[in-house]
Amino acid sequence: MIILAIETSCDDTCVAILKVKSQKSKVKSFDILSNVVSSQVKLHKKYGGIFPTLAKREHQHNLVPVLRKALQEARLLNSKLQFKIQNLDKFLNKKIDLIGVTVGPGLEPCLWVGVNFAKKLAKDWNLPLIPINHIEAHIFANFIDSKLQFKSQKLFPAICLVVSGGHTQLILMKDFGKYKILGETRDDAAGECFDKTARIFGLEYPGGPAIAAEATKFQVSNFKFQVKLPRPMMYTKNYDFSFSGLKTAVLYNYQKQPAKIKKSKKYIQAMAFEIQQAIIDVLIHKTLKAAKDYKVKTIILGGGVTANEELRKQLFEKIKKEKLNFKLQVPSLKLCLDNAAMIGITAYFHWLKNRKTKKIIEADANLKI
Ligand code: KG4
Ligand code: ZN
Repeated sequence: MIILAIETSCDDTCVAILKVKSQKSKVKSFDILSNVVSSQVKLHKKYGGIFPTLAKREHQHNLVPVLRKALQEARLLNSKLQFKIQNLDKFLNKKIDLIGVTVGPGLEPCLWVGVNFAKKLAKDWNLPLIPINHIEAHIFANFIDSKLQFKSQKLFPAICLVVSGGHTQLILMKDFGKYKILGETRDDAAGECFDKTARIFGLEYPGGPAIAAEATKFQVSNFKFQVKLPRPMMYTKNYDFSFSGLKTAVLYNYQKQPAKIKKSKKYIQAMAFEIQQAIIDVLIHKTLKAAKDYKVKTIILGGGVTANEELRKQLFEKIKKEKLNFKLQVPSLKLCLDNAAMIGITAYFHWLKNRKTKKIIEADANLKI
């Protein structure tokens, strides 16, 4: 079975093609035939964040070329023929069986570009179209590489920490497809906090990798400033987060520094180190609290911020040091960030459960898992 997946919820235009290898057995495995991500980072860099109308226009420009690239990489396109989106099936050497598309949450104008494109293809090819929740897909990204047993009882219950540019959520997962949101951010998402604080120091967008890179250069021995930033809501009884206070604390610290220090590499490195550590401390503390409270078997990570190597390392080490009995499931680095392969595997799961196409498929910017 061949799955075509489309993702346009934010600033990346993504198309992937997956092949289900062992369809009949309970243990499923997948081949990623292609997973093309066309990033708009350069375009949005000068604004320090994403402009939805600009992102929508870019998706409109990019979708056909990205689809072509994905089909070529998957060797589904008959290369001797000129590619045309009209009558595209004439140009394919193998049949596509299923289409999955992100319908939310995300930036509404961007979501609609992918949804309308997928609807057109599904209609032209008479294929089932599966609407996908982006957050659920970040969780399913964990199971593309490893063998996935959709009926596995060994994993559940699990706590999922989904942290991206738009979301910070702790989700109790009782089984595949069964979720309860335990807590989420009340203001900025963790990724947003990385992005906005990076901007204060003139670091590049996206801020997460930029802050992480500066943090690795920090050495306690040559640092003369004492920076201690708050860990907002770390010890509250609930599972909610708040990161806007951290961003404000960073801004106040920056504003009170003399001009010479503000620009100094050592100050920026020290701040980056402390920003990253404050975010990691809160994420790890709340995730382990939820995992202990709900006596789960597994902790599952997902979303762009989980590409942060310190977060992965420190969570792993803490579980080991405290001899906690949780299995830690993390996606490969590339699959943490937005991509369409994660949409494809989620589409396959929903198709297995219910082989019907929904009558009405619409984008929903605030879709909940
Ligand atoms: O999941 P994602 O690709 O897109 C959304 O769904 O939002 O996440 C993007 C976010 C950005 O805020 C980016 O700064 C952050 O993930 N990010 C990181 C790292 N790589 C990306 N944050 C911390 N450390 C990283 N290495
Ligand atoms: Zn995402």
